[in-house]
Amino acid sequence: MCKKTYYITTPIYYPSTKLHIGNTYTTVAADALARYKRLTGYDVMFLTGTDEHGQKIQRIAEEKGITPKEHVDEVVAGIKELWKLMNIGYDKFIRTTDDYHIKAVQDIFKKLYDQGDIYKSSYEGMYCTPCESFWTETQLVNGNCPDCGRPIEKSKEEAYFFKMSKYADRLIEYIETHPEFIQPESRKNEMLNNFLRPGLQDLCVSRTSFNWGIPVTFDEGHVVYVWIDALSNYITALGYGSENKELYEKYWPADVHLIGKDILRFHTIYWPIMLMALGLPLPKQVFGHGWLLVDGGKMSKSKGNVVDPVTLVEHFGVDAVRYYLLKEIPFGSDGLFNNEIFIKKINSDLCNDLGNLLSRTVAMIEKYFGGEVPANSEKEAIDDELINLALATPGKVTEAIDELRIPEALETIFNLIRRANKYIDETTPWILAKDDAKKERLGTVLYNLAESLRFSSVLLAAFLPETSEKINAQLNTNNVSFESLKEFNGTVVGTKVKKGEALFPRIDVDKKLAELEALKEAQLAKDKPAKREIAPIKEEITIEDFEKIDLRVVKVLACEPIKKAKKLLKLTVDLNGEERQVVSGISQYYKPEELVGKNVVLVANLKPVTLRGELSQGMILAAATDDGSILKLVDPGDLPTGSIVR
Ligand code: MSP
Repeated sequence: MCKKTYYITTPIYYPSTKLHIGNTYTTVAADALARYKRLTGYDVMFLTGTDEHGQKIQRIAEEKGITPKEHVDEVVAGIKELWKLMNIGYDKFIRTTDDYHIKAVQDIFKKLYDQGDIYKSSYEGMYCTPCESFWTETQLVNGNCPDCGRPIEKSKEEAYFFKMSKYADRLIEYIETHPEFIQPESRKNEMLNNFLRPGLQDLCVSRTSFNWGIPVTFDEGHVVYVWIDALSNYITALGYGSENKELYEKYWPADVHLIGKDILRFHTIYWPIMLMALGLPLPKQVFGHGWLLVDGGKMSKSKGNVVDPVTLVEHFGVDAVRYYLLKEIPFGSDGLFNNEIFIKKINSDLCNDLGNLLSRTVAMIEKYFGGEVPANSEKEAIDDELINLALATPGKVTEAIDELRIPEALETIFNLIRRANKYIDETTPWILAKDDAKKERLGTVLYNLAESLRFSSVLLAAFLPETSEKINAQLNTNNVSFESLKEFNGTVVGTKVKKGEALFPRIDVDKKLAELEALKEAQLAKDKPAKREIAPIKEEITIEDFEKIDLRVVKVLACEPIKKAKKLLKLTVDLNGEERQVVSGISQYYKPEELVGKNVVLVANLKPVTLRGELSQGMILAAATDDGSILKLVDPGDLPTGSIVR
């Protein structure tokens, strides 16, 4: 019989900065869901990857003096390492620089153009480079990007647009008739009321101001703008647009796109419209989870509050981190990452509840039965509650997972773990052990404990895979299928248990907090840019001295190199209708054509001189590093020429 399929995706990550615990969250959650589905018999495709194009990547690479591809290769290797560390078992990792993806995106773009959904026009708007998003004036918050709060730049260029409005009514109807499509529910209303119902603007889908992107095949100079490129990954990864569509046929439409709430608009409006235009089915669900906050709000490098998953794993182990993310962050709303709460949770849930249950059970089997799991031949009524709870647990966990209530799924498993601990207190095996006549009853109690642990471990495999393996090793069981949880008898009598190390050693909270604090301070000190050697500040002058210098805005009308003077450019500038000629030593930093039309600042009352036979009536202002490696002309913006600079 054919297995049921389950296709789950994470967003593809920007390889621009190091990933923090917030980005890690999406992928850990997706991994837990994928593992649980595999456990319960699904044929799973779990896709993740990287979103490698765009102006920001190009700029970073330029600053580093390497090619964009070299930069992304480096970062992607680090991301893959991180997923390994976090025990992320993805089935496919797509890179948007992969050949098959590039070709498929080019075909998609062409098809949309040919059928009239994409048209050419020009774009003038407010552009946020880090977010790679254009915004309208009304969307700005205090004049800044509404998503990241950073300053935006005015930008105009020729561009292709996608006719979003054409599909808006169909999408509204779809969302209204498919309540499960956008989850959680509150986010659905946000999309409908804030974006769809007020009317959709056409989406800019190509750029010409940078070239690190997928080229538009039929118009040189244009690259596909990031969202068409990025969103298509969910189908190109399955072979859509290639010769082999087997995976596409098998897995599309996706069961769930798991994403952070910040990119919900792209996934629930632009993506479905793209799919409608391509005549493809829509994903069954888009789930926008909340934001992982730290004390002080959002994580940011400038605030110095970025939580590094690698450090956490080094100190606490991967499953402690996975546990906190999956159990303590309400799935769907914002949650807090806090070291103290984190450590206390490790101590209470993982060390006390889970760790102790295992160590006590294994220790008692060793002590009273020479390490061999005893038979459960002498049952009592008190056992029923534990056994019934164990038997009901898998169903409840599945129910929670089916509705993506991940913390509840874990809570259900930990309920069983806590019930088993309570069972120890109720049955007092150490007292039973004192009476030879109670040996069989003692055996039954320990069997029930071992079997409850096996139930917990099988289910925990999806969430804490490493811990689950350690429990199985100590119980010495390989009976770990979901099927084996139908009956409470999967632990084989006579199995030799093997005591191992404590699963989660108890942590001294204050000591560990101080250690983490010291580490953070050291990191902050390391990140602080070192003070550079600069030229000494010159002798003091008075304001009158300064006012002798007359600085004016001028516009460059023409510019050409000076023969036999490699470093010099000859500029003709306009100063409120007066034309002047200026010689400037900037040819190694600017090409003549880059300067024409630009406004610059001129020292207008500098005594004219002749340089290499050319008259120079003033000097252009520029900022430069001491070693002369970088030089930038001072930009006075678009003020009228002749304006005074002071
Ligand atoms: N490249 C786009 C996604 C394109 S998908 C077709 C992108 N990349 S990202 O690297 O910026 O973000 C990746 C994921 O991390 C997103 O789901 C984002 O919501 C999530 N998070 C980033 N910071 C986060 C928190 N502080 N908390 C929770 N998730 C956060 O967006």
